[in-house]
Amino acid sequence: MKIGIIGAGNIGGALTRRFSTLGHKVFVANSRGPETLADLAAETGATPVTVEQAAQAGDVVIVTIPLKNVASLPAGLFAKTPKNVAIVDTGNYYPRQRDGRIKEIEDGLTESQWVEKQLGRPVVKAFNNIYAEHLYELGRPPGTPGRIALPVAGNDPAAKAVVLRLIDELGFDGVDVGGLDESWRQQPHTPVYATDFDANGVRRALAKASKERKPEWRATPRSPGTYEAPA
Ligand SMILES: NC(=O)c1ccc[n+]([C@@H]2O[C@H](COP(=O)([O-])OP(=O)(O)OC[C@H]3O[C@@H](n4cnc5c(N)ncnc54)[C@H](OP(=O)(O)O)[C@@H]3O)[C@@H](O)[C@H]2O)c1
Repeated sequence: MKIGIIGAGNIGGALTRRFSTLGHKVFVANSRGPETLADLAAETGATPVTVEQAAQAGDVVIVTIPLKNVASLPAGLFAKTPKNVAIVDTGNYYPRQRDGRIKEIEDGLTESQWVEKQLGRPVVKAFNNIYAEHLYELGRPPGTPGRIALPVAGNDPAAKAVVLRLIDELGFDGVDVGGLDESWRQQPHTPVYATDFDANGVRRALAKASKERKPEWRATPRSPGTYEAPA
């Protein structure tokens, strides 16, 4: 499968490495340009491209950049991307550490619905609740007891099916959370976030989630600070 990846950091790097190892053809982009991705390309065989090329390179395109930066991606980035290409959002809202205030999210829009609005295209939310290192290292064959499960939310069943299949290839069970309006169940303030549960554990955690955004996951007038000194 051809996979475009926009973002080559913790998650983008882990996915580039794992998908390349699995035999997929990966096209990866960052903000500074393809020439800055020579080392990752040499290591993995992935093709470094521009953001615009990555948006059109794949049967699947994964957007994995800091949430606030989604708003400054080129306008109409996916205008020429065929409608059957699944667009995946791995993003999380870290208002105090990185993103600053995003009013619509503070007002109750799910993080991925906000991303969808910025991109002008439906997205599937996945890979947002697992540490990049675990994504890279902890995949296991199907049927392994305790195999980590990853929640997936989205409105398009075909796009979600593609993502669930890739998740299985990466060594994880996929759990369908429902539509994107249910994706708050896997956001940073919820029981499934960064917990590495198996499929039953993920289902229990999703069921226990509360939609209320806790104060520590809301912006303040001083946001953003840094990871060392959230504000
Ligand atoms: N880290 C984790 O364990 C983890 C786990 C799950 C989900 N997430 C979420 O996934 C997203 C990505 O996280 P990350 O930790 O992988 O980020 P990261 O390590 O900070 O990497 C960000 C990447 O995005 C690129 N980028 C930034 N702005 C861009 C733009 N406008 N156009 C193209 N590329 C751009 C950067 O390129 P340059 O270096 O060239 O600027 C860099 O390659 C975030 O929303 C994060 O909250 C992270």
